[in-house]
Amino acid sequence: MTVETLLGRQVGDYDPPVRGDPITGERYYSRRWAQAEWDHVWTKVWHIGGMVADLEEPGDFLTHNLGRESVVMLKQEDGSVRAFYNACKHRGYRLAWTEVGGSPFLTCAYHGWRYAPDGTLIHAQDPDDFPGGNPCGRTKLEEIPCAVWGGFVWFTMDRDAASLADWLGPVGRQMEQWGMDRMTRVMALKSDVPCNWKIIRDNFNESYHLPTLHPQIANVIDDSLEDTIFEIYPDGHNRMIMRGLKPSGRYDTADILEMPLAQALEYWELDPKDFEGRASQTRAAIIAKKRELGRARGYPHYDGMGDSEIVDFHHYTLFPNLTFTMWPDGVQLLRSEPHPTDPERCIFDHWFMAHRIGDSDVVIGPMGPTPFEAVERETVIFGTRSLGDVADQDLSVAIGQQEGLHSRGYTGGLLANQEKRVQAFHERLNDMCGIHD
Ligand code: FES
Ligand SMILES: [Fe+2]
Repeated sequence: MTVETLLGRQVGDYDPPVRGDPITGERYYSRRWAQAEWDHVWTKVWHIGGMVADLEEPGDFLTHNLGRESVVMLKQEDGSVRAFYNACKHRGYRLAWTEVGGSPFLTCAYHGWRYAPDGTLIHAQDPDDFPGGNPCGRTKLEEIPCAVWGGFVWFTMDRDAASLADWLGPVGRQMEQWGMDRMTRVMALKSDVPCNWKIIRDNFNESYHLPTLHPQIANVIDDSLEDTIFEIYPDGHNRMIMRGLKPSGRYDTADILEMPLAQALEYWELDPKDFEGRASQTRAAIIAKKRELGRARGYPHYDGMGDSEIVDFHHYTLFPNLTFTMWPDGVQLLRSEPHPTDPERCIFDHWFMAHRIGDSDVVIGPMGPTPFEAVERETVIFGTRSLGDVADQDLSVAIGQQEGLHSRGYTGGLLANQEKRVQAFHERLNDMCGIHD
């Protein structure tokens, strides 16, 4: 089924009913909710631990800290990746302290125990001084499920979890069209942000805010309701497709044939003046030009893509906290995770993965032109520099909402139909956490 035939509101099988549970304010600030989410959500779902590309040699590792927990993912001799809790079996010292690293052994800095990449203890000081004898070869780090997909290393703390492929379901197969595993991560910003993680999820689970909050993108993303597809999948993931490289149907007039749409038209050898009075036709014209010129201009990845994929914005939210916006030439990942101790803060990540275009050493990312080179994650002290124009706008309201949700004047929300993904997200959380008050 093509996107053209799907255009409309929530579609068919992917429009499950919601109950209308109130979205209580307390869930955004209470320790009761934070603990329930840890017990029933964070320790049950799959998480991204880092980039496969950072693991080159056996013994290379990634770490990912989530709340108070930490996980280390190690490359094995056979090329596979295994994940372990990042805590020494001797007395619990955290073993790996950098996000990326590597050595033949993982060595604990406290008493010097050494572990092989498969988690087996291979050296302990005074090994015969232990009850039961030498612990080497018998003691192993605590292993948890690990998988590789889309260029990322994933882990889950639930040893009984469905496989990653099953957890992704049809959404995973859809996302493979963009070839994420052939992309390079060219931007990776991280910040500790003063709002609950779900405020950021709510924002990414609706597009109702676009005309008010992001008017600058209205001439390259059509945010009009009748042209946007919303789908909610049974496993809690969802998809939104917005038409790209045409102005919003809310403002279909010639005078919005400005930057950056005009720039896109010119790049693909089209004259913006030809579209005065018929701005809704820019998308189809650019699709045709991309098909005609794409391969020769360094865009061979268009060959395997459908028309919608080479021009539209496919926006996926994987439950509970990963949002991928698929652009024709790259993927933006926005993630919010719980703060280790404070329910009114969260850890926010903004990554961009891109295909190289020809031999260009620059790609156009969420921060504008960006060098095409692999980057390590960069931590930003919130408020001291931009996390991306659009992300800054989203985060500015997130902080204001965190304040308002404490008010006795907030009584559980009044959502538009097009915000159904927000409602479905919270009802799923209510059910998983077993909290319905
Ligand atoms: S805590 Fe790791 S060697 Fe003692
Ligand atoms: Fe936004």
